[in-house]
Order: sequence, then C-alpha cells, then structure tokens
Amino acid sequence: MFSFRSLAVVSFSTGVGYVLGLETNSETQMMKLPRCITAILPQKAERLRTDHDLDLAENQHIPSWYKLLPVPGTVHAATVALDRNLPATPTSTPVSTAPTNRAVQIMKHGYPGFDNVRYYEDFVVSYDRRNRTAHWVFEHIKGDNCTYAEGVDRSKCSDFRPDLSIHPYFRATNADYKGSGYDRGHLAAASNHRHSQKAMDDTFVLSNISPQVGVGFNRGVWNSLEKYTRALARRNRSVYVCTGPLYLPRKEPDGKQYVKYEVIGANNVAVPTHFFKVLVVEDEKGQFEMKSFVMPNQALPEEIPLKAFYYPIDSIERAAGFLLFEKIPRKMFKLINGSKPQ
Ligand SMILES: *[C@@H]1O[C@H](CO)[C@@H](O)[C@H](O)[C@H]1NC(C)=O
Ligand SMILES: *[C@@H]1O[C@H](CO)[C@@H](O)[C@H](O)[C@H]1NC(C)=O
Ligand SMILES: *[C@@H]1O[C@H](CO)[C@@H](O)[C@H](O)[C@H]1NC(C)=O
Ligand SMILES: *[C@@H]1O[C@H](CO)[C@@H](O)[C@H](O)[C@H]1NC(C)=O
Repeated sequence: MFSFRSLAVVSFSTGVGYVLGLETNSETQMMKLPRCITAILPQKAERLRTDHDLDLAENQHIPSWYKLLPVPGTVHAATVALDRNLPATPTSTPVSTAPTNRAVQIMKHGYPGFDNVRYYEDFVVSYDRRNRTAHWVFEHIKGDNCTYAEGVDRSKCSDFRPDLSIHPYFRATNADYKGSGYDRGHLAAASNHRHSQKAMDDTFVLSNISPQVGVGFNRGVWNSLEKYTRALARRNRSVYVCTGPLYLPRKEPDGKQYVKYEVIGANNVAVPTHFFKVLVVEDEKGQFEMKSFVMPNQALPEEIPLKAFYYPIDSIERAAGFLLFEKIPRKMFKLINGSKPQ
C-alpha cells in the first residue's frame, strides 16, 4: 500500500494546475498517460501540500486536453448512480457465492483463482469485472449428462440475462451485445448440461458469455470443439473443462507489441482476441489425459483439424495469468496434446 503524503501537480504557464500523480513516501507514482498527452506536459511539477491548494486546483478551469482521456461509463452513469450503495453481491441472488457440493467436484483439481467466483447449478465462473466477461469457467462433464433428460429443452431456457449477482457497474447486459455483430457465445456450452433444465438455463447468464464471431467461429470451429468435448465425455469416465478468454499481444506496423481488442456497448464489454479450452479427460481407469486448445476469435475454415489448435498449456497459463489443474502433477498425465509429458 502507498501512503499518500502529497499530490504532485503539473503547473502550466497559465497557472492551471491539475492532479496527475500521487507522491508516496519513497517516490512519485505517475499515472501513465497516452503519448498525445504526455507530449504536451511541461517539465516541472509542483507539489500541493495543503487542502487549500487542492481546492484551488479543483476550481481551476480543466484544460481541454483532459477531454482526450476516455471516460468510460458516462453514458449510463446517471441510471447506475442510483445503485451505488448496492452490495456487490446482493443477498437475494439465486446464485451461490459459497461452494456447493457439486462445485467441490467440479473444482476438484484446483481453482485457477478466486476473483468474483460464482457457483451455478453445474458450472463455476470467475468473473472479470474489468472486462465484463469471465476470467474462466469450469465444468465437469459426464457422458450421460450431455444427453437430454426427459422434459429438458433448450427452447424452454430463459433468454440470455444479466448476472444480478454482479454489481451493476461491472455487469454486461443484452443491450451491450445488441447490434455489435457478435454472438453471445457460451463459455460453458448449453449442450453440456442437457440433464437438467435448471443447469442448462444457468448457462445463459451473461457472466458465462463472451462476444464471439458468429459464422465460422461460434457456429463453426468453436462448436466443433464443444462437440468433440462431449464425444470424449461419452467415451470416457468424465471430462473436466476450463474455458476462458485471452487477450493476446500482436505486433503492429511500428514493430512494437500491443494488446488491442474491441469493446462493445455502453459497458465496454471486451471482445477477446482468442479463447482457450483445456480438457482433462479421465478414462475408465481413472488416468488423465490433457488437451489444451487456443482459437482466435475469428471466422476460420471448418476443415482445419482441431489438432491444429493445440497450444502449449504453459503458454495459456502465462497469457491468462493463472495456473490450470494445478493439483494434478504434469507428469501424471498419460498424454498432453497427444505426447507424453516431459
Ligand atoms: C482485461 O483485458 C485486458 C486486455 O488486455 C487484460 O490485459 C486484462 O488482464 C484483463 N483483465 C483485467 C482484470 O483487467
Ligand atoms: C449428472 O446428472 C445428474 C442428474 O441430473 C446429476 O446428479 C449429476 O450431478 C450430474 N453430473 C455428473 C458429473 O454426474
Ligand atoms: C476416451 O475417449 C477417446 C476419444 O473418443 C478415446 O480415443 C479413448 O479411447 C477413450 N478412453 C477410454 C478409456 O475409453
Ligand atoms: C501442447 O500442444 C502444443 C502444440 O501442439 C505443443 O507445443 C506442446 O508441447 C503440447 N504439450 C504441452 C505440455 O503443452
């Protein structure tokens, strides 16, 4: 933690002051500002030491370059402001924030993290409030559970809906997706949960959804990967599945690497550049095999074999910022992506 001793303020020749950074006991922490702004900042920084100085600074005219900073959320700030005092997890929510018995089984091989974890009927989500989609979604699929039980019907599912257990500032809404051109892509697939209407219904909550390219991705190769997962579950004892978004850097024409991704709707829902899916297949003898995939969020030719999307598991972990299936030592896997682990 910093201890804020004073505020560093940039002083302009016009006498305009504006707070830019915080001085800690040891050093001055400057906010990173876009190049277009830092370029026009004067060299010398003054210090404000009293409340009086701060008042003065605040009452000054705000320099026009400040408008260059994006101010997210202002579009709907007025409506959201009413909810400011809502607890982040209202007690009325039907979603569990404590692990259920089912969740203990689903998460048996380790949690990738504990950020805003939600326990649904048959899957577990860790929600990324900043990007308005999941960090990861965990499922445990058994063959008989991805065949329809009597009375279960996808058309009976309630529509996609916001996750009311997430504070409204950080929630994705259907309006964010509307007109974006992206599908509301399931992370835990609805068809993996055909054994219970409630379980399938739960997969339509927007915390389990990411913006995905429709034709050629969500309705193409990504769908094939989901079908393959169920095929594995039917022919083995069970499959543990972890699915999530990735935001991977890309080299731009200036030769530098950037993470660039689109955001949609008033809530700036992030459009991931890629998605990962890591499968741990438990065979009839209780032995494990791992298959780790990464796919770019774009239309891809359907004839590419799924094997082409194998991706080193440690690269997924480094990019995602968490470890997967940590409780199973890697050398215990019979195979990882078709080869014996090193
Ligand atoms: C949100 O997306 C950005 C995209 O690059 C990523 O760097 C970041 O780790 C994600 N999560 C959070 C909590 O910001
Ligand atoms: C499968 O379906 C049954 C019946 O709905 C349920 O009790 C069970 O928890 C589900 N999952 C697994 C992995 O068996
Ligand atoms: C698990 O499923 C895969 C894919 O269908 C199959 O090749 C493998 O033989 C299965 N394992 C067992 C033990 O049946
Ligand atoms: C997984 O797949 C990739 C791509 O085929 C491969 O490079 C890697 O060695 C595999 N194994 C592990 C442990 O990641």
